[in-house]
Amino acid sequence: MKKITMIISAAALLLAVGVANPLKAQTEQKETYQPKPVPAEVKSIVERSCIACHSEDGNPLAKMKFNFTKWDEYSTEKQVSTGQDMCKMLTKGKMPPQKYLDANPEVKPSDKEKKIICDWAATLSGIK
Ligand code: HEC
Repeated sequence: MKKITMIISAAALLLAVGVANPLKAQTEQKETYQPKPVPAEVKSIVERSCIACHSEDGNPLAKMKFNFTKWDEYSTEKQVSTGQDMCKMLTKGKMPPQKYLDANPEVKPSDKEKKIICDWAATLSGIK
């Protein structure tokens, strides 16, 4: 009796996974080419390391280049190019500015966080 219950649950599980997976893959593929909300992970990195300058209340020069407060108002093209610039600046170690990091070492993005931003930027442009 117990064995049968186990077989039935295993079958139900396999069925659920089989049904859910293609659906999930389809949704993800479709979303790649549409603007989507900034993932929480990305948001928290930007909010910690960039927002002091790149926001409405930030540095006038910095927010001209990218203003995270207005991100949702950006066109898809602007989101794509800004995402790529963010990845580039992070990878080259040009942003956040060294002087700012010297004063606030705790906001220095880790390699893993840089990768999260770059992967997200790639998703925006449809590369990934
Ligand atoms: C202490 C203030 C400050 C912080 C923090 C900061 N930036 Fe900047 N950023 C600036 C200023 C000022 C400019 C504009 C002048 C310049 O290009 O050097 C700028 C420019 C940029 C540009 C445009 C570069 C170009 O050449 O077009 C990008 C992209 C950028 N920042 C990304 C980031 C990212 C991503 C972070 C967080 C990881 C960040 N910045 C954190 C001050 C800051």
